Amino acid sequence: MLKDRCLIEPSDVTVEELEALFSLARGIEEDEAAYRDMCRGKILATLFFEPSTRTRLSFEAAMFRLGGNVLGFAEPGSSSSAKGESLADTVRTVSCYADLIAMRNPKEGSALLASRYATVPVINAGDGGHHHPTQTLTDLLTIKRIFGGFDGLTVGFCGDLKFGRTVHSLAGALSRYNGVKIVFVSPQELRAPAYVTTGLLKNAGIAYQETENLEDVIGTLDVLYMTRVQKERFFNEEDYIRLKDSYILTEEKMALARDTMIVLHPLPRVNEIAVEVDRDPRALYFQQARYGMFIRMALICSLLGLF
Ligand code: NCD
Repeated sequence: MLKDRCLIEPSDVTVEELEALFSLARGIEEDEAAYRDMCRGKILATLFFEPSTRTRLSFEAAMFRLGGNVLGFAEPGSSSSAKGESLADTVRTVSCYADLIAMRNPKEGSALLASRYATVPVINAGDGGHHHPTQTLTDLLTIKRIFGGFDGLTVGFCGDLKFGRTVHSLAGALSRYNGVKIVFVSPQELRAPAYVTTGLLKNAGIAYQETENLEDVIGTLDVLYMTRVQKERFFNEEDYIRLKDSYILTEEKMALARDTMIVLHPLPRVNEIAVEVDRDPRALYFQQARYGMFIRMALICSLLGLF
């Protein structure tokens, strides 16, 4: 279905192709044994120039569960980029060894650049504060499992909307569905960038609202997407310290939300969701991490032309 394509931004996959990925992920989840040898003899390279737990490990777990193999690095210091090798040369070389590349890099646009030089499909596993399309696949699959679809949902994003790449990717992906409303909750300094608000949402005719107050809007939401303040993207530590605890989701705030609202978070959580909220049946962030592995299994099969 997606044979030999790259996934750099969520819009690289059509709404119809997304639906096929969701179905495949469900099929895999329901009968993993049937897919155990699907990628036998295939190799995934994971090139991570930035820290990661879920994204890298879920890609690796996905490939292992499909019977394939994985090679790569988890920090740039152990690769030839430490000797000054260009990204272009690194991916050209890795294309000789692997059938597929998943890459995370702190520079915006790096995944697109890599895709121009690689001769195998490149999956963007996060390019700086720009996009994170496989997290979006994970988020969409979780929402779909709960609500059955996306039309008419009101989705709130709370926290660091400026640097949070998962926010940029998910908001853009949701703009393709009918009647979706977006509510952005952030301090002034961490508002969503214009390429998301006016660029993606306004152009698509999606209604959005911006506020600094979570309590005012939490009762209107179907989905609350909490995010971490992205420490590594700040130029100065004082600003980070001042803003890091702007929002903390507590049981008291959850009491203002609908019984049917779900809480998502791409993780890692730092302080923005109090641990007691984990007990709330509406808190789905660990379930979301599990869905991330199944959707990555579906994506790998699809890019390798196996579906
Ligand atoms: C996110 C990321 O890397 O952008 N994490 C993830 O992939 N699940 C969110 C974050 O780091 O805050």
